[in-house]
Amino acid sequence: MIDTTSTPRSVRKERLLFEPILFGDLELPNRIVMAPLTRMRVPKPEGVPNAIMREYYVQRATAGLIITEGTFVSDQARGWFAAPGVYTEAQRDGWQVITDAVHRAGGHMIVQLWHQGSVTNRGLVGHGRSPLAPSAVDPEQLLRTGYQATEMTPVPKAMTRDDIKQTVADFRHAAQVARDAGFDGVQIQGGFVYLFQQFLQENLNLRTDEYGGSVENRARILFEVLEAVLKVWPSQRVGVKAGPMMSERGGFKSLPSTLPTSEYLYHRLTDYNLSHVMVMRQLADLTGTPLQTLEGDNVLHHLRQFYRGTLMLNAGIDAAHAEDLLQQGLGELVAFGRDYIANPDLVERIRLDAPLNKQRPESFYGPDGDGYTDYPTLSHLTAETSAVTCG
Ligand SMILES: Cc1cc2nc3c(=O)[nH]c(=O)nc-3n(C[C@H](O)[C@H](O)[C@H](O)COP(=O)(O)O)c2cc1C
Repeated sequence: MIDTTSTPRSVRKERLLFEPILFGDLELPNRIVMAPLTRMRVPKPEGVPNAIMREYYVQRATAGLIITEGTFVSDQARGWFAAPGVYTEAQRDGWQVITDAVHRAGGHMIVQLWHQGSVTNRGLVGHGRSPLAPSAVDPEQLLRTGYQATEMTPVPKAMTRDDIKQTVADFRHAAQVARDAGFDGVQIQGGFVYLFQQFLQENLNLRTDEYGGSVENRARILFEVLEAVLKVWPSQRVGVKAGPMMSERGGFKSLPSTLPTSEYLYHRLTDYNLSHVMVMRQLADLTGTPLQTLEGDNVLHHLRQFYRGTLMLNAGIDAAHAEDLLQQGLGELVAFGRDYIANPDLVERIRLDAPLNKQRPESFYGPDGDGYTDYPTLSHLTAETSAVTCG
């Protein structure tokens, strides 16, 4: 009989999740990544990262790699209440404290560069400015305008060529601020419902200039931004999150062109020798959509054919599934989102096959440490149990 309760050490060592991997010149100790997770702990409009965020990220420093929450590249990029930025001196200084602390704890950390495009309103953008997008089409999305407040998006203003140039410059500036703040690299949020997806999505991009129409044109802004960021960082410290999976709501319903557009992106991204491309499995119900055949792991099998570099797999993947996907060669890293919210010591729990803490979705977004920094580690739980037993 096989004793499944005590896996021998030699067997555990062979798990690909625990095999180190090179990330440019950095060696990550394992392939377990903390996915980007907006947590709304920055209520002041200045968007400066703070002490509670330092505690939260340091708690998770055993991840092979931490990707920060989506972080705005400019005022214009803002579209979510209480999310941070990486474009002012104060934000740089705030992040520096966090990256220093994570490095001291043995971790590695990159920042997700975020521009919400049309998925915002004047209040969130601030300074009396309108939301900007490829075209003046309402994306029909629900906005988070406060801890308890939501509003629907308005019709944005179509970007001029100068607005596009400014956006490219803003990403380059933010990439430099990220470097100055001590990050190990950056990830460009290139998908879901945000600026670059708005350009890629035919129903939201009605432009007739070189940024609209053909797939080359719809993808142009993303590659211009990528090349601007590559003027600041070596390619092996830059990643892109992209893929066909969207909310399947409002303006972000998949179209017949959605998959060919992702194939084009993945094929072209291979040439850049990036640190990674991050792909999401489905989150929405794909029944009856043009992506129906990409349900479950099918999207990973499909896109692996188009991207030869390091793939980071994400969405709805637990540890056993992650190991299986790596063993099949479908990717090189696996990012865990909600499991990382609830388990600061996720690496240790996966190593020991230990149970995970129960998630508290009601505090995924919130103002303080409740549901943020108070999830126990295994050692806390063990200490509590012995205190109860002894007392
Ligand atoms: C509370 C919350 C916040 C999120 N914030 C971001 C974000 O800022 N940027 C991003 O690219 N994805 C974000 N996501 C998506 C996650 O990175 C991840 O794709 C998703 O949770 C699915 O992975 P999981 O099944 O491992 O949780 C968020 C998800 C959740 C639940």
